Amino acid sequence: MVDLKELFEKGRWYHCFRYDGLTSNGTYDVANYIEHYKFDKYYGGKTVLDVGCSDGYFSTWMKEHGADRVLGVDSNKYDGSLAFVPSIAFKQIHQEKYAQYADDYAVYRPLYEKYGLTNSNKLLFMAKLMELDIEFRTGSIYDLSAFGEFDLVMCNDLLEHLRDPITAIEQLYLATKGKCIITVSSALKTGWFDRKKALALYQGHVSGGSFFSLSEEAVKAMCASAGFKKIEVVSRFEMLNRRHGTPNSHFVLHAYK
Ligand SMILES: C[S@@+](CC[C@H](N)C(=O)[O-])C[C@H]1O[C@@H](n2cnc3c(N)ncnc32)[C@H](O)[C@@H]1O
Repeated sequence: MVDLKELFEKGRWYHCFRYDGLTSNGTYDVANYIEHYKFDKYYGGKTVLDVGCSDGYFSTWMKEHGADRVLGVDSNKYDGSLAFVPSIAFKQIHQEKYAQYADDYAVYRPLYEKYGLTNSNKLLFMAKLMELDIEFRTGSIYDLSAFGEFDLVMCNDLLEHLRDPITAIEQLYLATKGKCIITVSSALKTGWFDRKKALALYQGHVSGGSFFSLSEEAVKAMCASAGFKKIEVVSRFEMLNRRHGTPNSHFVLHAYK
C-alpha cells in the first residue's frame, strides 16, 4: 500500500510542498524564493487567477494569505496527453514527460481516490490535503474568457513556453481587474548595450518547449501594447532547477490596469 511519504518522495512533482514533516520532490522549491514575487502580505477580499498553475504552489499560497477565491487554470489534463504543442523534433521527449502524469496516477491511485480525485492533479490533491478551498479548471491562456475577471491575475514561468506570448498577454489583460503579476524564466540577460531593447531570442531548437528567451523590455512592451498602464519590473533572481542542478534566471513584473 503506497503512503503519502512515498508519493512526496517518488511521485511526479513540479513544486516542493511542505506538509506534516514531508517535502515533495519538486523541480522548483518556490517557497525559498517567494519574497522575489513581491506579493502583498494579505489578499483578503480578493479574487485570484493562477494561469499555468501546474502543481499550484502559488494558488495555495494565495489562499493561505486570505484570498476569497482562487482559481488555478492549466492546459494539462493529467491524463498523460501533451499540454502544449512542442516543436515536431522534440515531440516524443515531451510526450514521455507528460505521460508521467498518468503513470503517477496509476502508481498512487489509492491516495488520489481517497480524496475523490480521478487523476494526478497535484493542485487538487494538495488543496484536499491542506483543506484549502481552491478551484481548478482545465484551460488555455489563449482563451481565458470562460473564467471571467479577477482582482489579481498571475502568470508565472509560462510566457517563455508559448508560441505566441503576445496573444497570451492580451488575454491576461482582459482577465485582469486590478493587477497582473508575470514571472518570466529562462529570462534573457542583456548587457548595458542591449538593456533597453525589446528582445526575444528563439530557443525552440534547444528543447522544443521553451520557445523564447525574453528580455524585460520585450515583456514590458508587450504589456504596454496590450493596454496595461503602469508596468514595473520588481525583481530579478536565479532559481535552482532541482532536477538539473542549474540556476534559471527570472524576472518578476507587476502590471496594472
Ligand atoms: C513551467 S510551468 C510553471 C508553473 C508555475 N506557474 C510556476 O511558476 O511554478 C508551466 C505550466 O503551464 C502549463 N501550460 C503550458 N501551456 C499552457 C497554455 N497554453 N495555457 C495554460 N497553461 C499552459 C503547463 O502545463 C505547466 O503546468
